[in-house]
Amino acid sequence: MTPSVGIVVVAAGSGTRLGEAEPKAFVTVAGVSILERALRGVFDSAEPAQVVVVAPESRLGAARAIAERVAGSASSFVSVVVGGATRQASVAAGLAALAPGIETVLVHDAARALTPPALLDRVVRAVRETGDGVIPVLAVVDTIKRVAGDGVVRGTVDRSDLVHVQTPQGFPRAELEAAYAAATEEVTDDAALFAAHGGRVTTVEGEASAFKITTPWDLRRAEGLLSAPNVGLRTGVGIDVHAYDDASPMWLGGLYWQGEPGLAGHSDGDAVLHAICDALLSAAGLGDLGSRFGTADARFADAASEVFVRETLALVAGAGFAVVNVSVQVVAARPKIAPRRSELESRLSLLVGAPVTLGATTTDGLGFTGRGEGVAVVATALLTASA
Ligand code: CTP
Ligand code: MG
Repeated sequence: MTPSVGIVVVAAGSGTRLGEAEPKAFVTVAGVSILERALRGVFDSAEPAQVVVVAPESRLGAARAIAERVAGSASSFVSVVVGGATRQASVAAGLAALAPGIETVLVHDAARALTPPALLDRVVRAVRETGDGVIPVLAVVDTIKRVAGDGVVRGTVDRSDLVHVQTPQGFPRAELEAAYAAATEEVTDDAALFAAHGGRVTTVEGEASAFKITTPWDLRRAEGLLSAPNVGLRTGVGIDVHAYDDASPMWLGGLYWQGEPGLAGHSDGDAVLHAICDALLSAAGLGDLGSRFGTADARFADAASEVFVRETLALVAGAGFAVVNVSVQVVAARPKIAPRRSELESRLSLLVGAPVTLGATTTDGLGFTGRGEGVAVVATALLTASA
């Protein structure tokens, strides 16, 4: 079935005010590009639609890959076209790619990356009900003043009939195309062009989260909204202890320690890696090393302990978590950790795929570590629900 709604997503701007090396739509917000986030909202709207992405010529391939990934099974309704030098030219390029059956058109800024799908549905519904051009608006809350070039305030503007205007803006297709065909000057939004051609424009309530990412501050605001501190965070702890075994090679923290007595125990006895695994499993609610990779399992008998870390990370990811960071404390008289601390941290961070920090202490001659009988390691892990 051919959809009757077309959504033109303009993403061909360069993002001068954002000041990143990439064109704005390809800058990431919390790891996902602005274009991909905007398209997720578009494809989550209830209405089946033809989606036209308008991209910079240099990024056509990247835009197509993103659009096809987000569209999934709906990908037959996606097209990607090259934009123009101005927003208006980009919208015109998008309109030219609309399929014959489209009756209602939304024009939407990719830069409004966090626009909720419900706003698109609201605009479509209003266009169908009224036949008007429809724009989402928010009330102006600050006092507005007129200021002259000399910095002197000339007066206060009555703000009671002023609004902030957002996208998506919706229109009956034929009238919007006629307005674009007749356009003689540049305007800053599609509704102005539609109105200049005699169309009536009415409003629906906008959404605070549909703000446009324009400046670096806007980008940080979007990041902050997505990271939602303390939501979905899980912490876990792990402890491992092994006695020295002069007959074994010493593996600790995924590194080989020449001339040091090794550690007794299952696999290579790497107490740092075992403690990290336990911390990760505990944070994810997945039990512990012993119950997951039993000593009876021949696969792990003399295994390098990195295999446990890799298997543990796969379990953690499978349970829907990503690692935020891991912190490790080694309690031992030997080996001396300090000279290789940064080497250990890089090795472990690479292995875990997240920052791993490591510290070490002795116990002032007290207890089994003080007497030089073995090594104890404590690790904590922080996980977040993966995006
Ligand atoms: N846009 C476009 N083609 C252009 C200019 C803008 O498709 N020639 C799109 C942008 O990609 C953005 C939307 O129009 O999604 C709103 O424009 P704006 O926020 O001004 O983005 P940029 O023009 O990229 O940013 P700047 O003005 O800071 O350069
Ligand atoms: Mg611009």
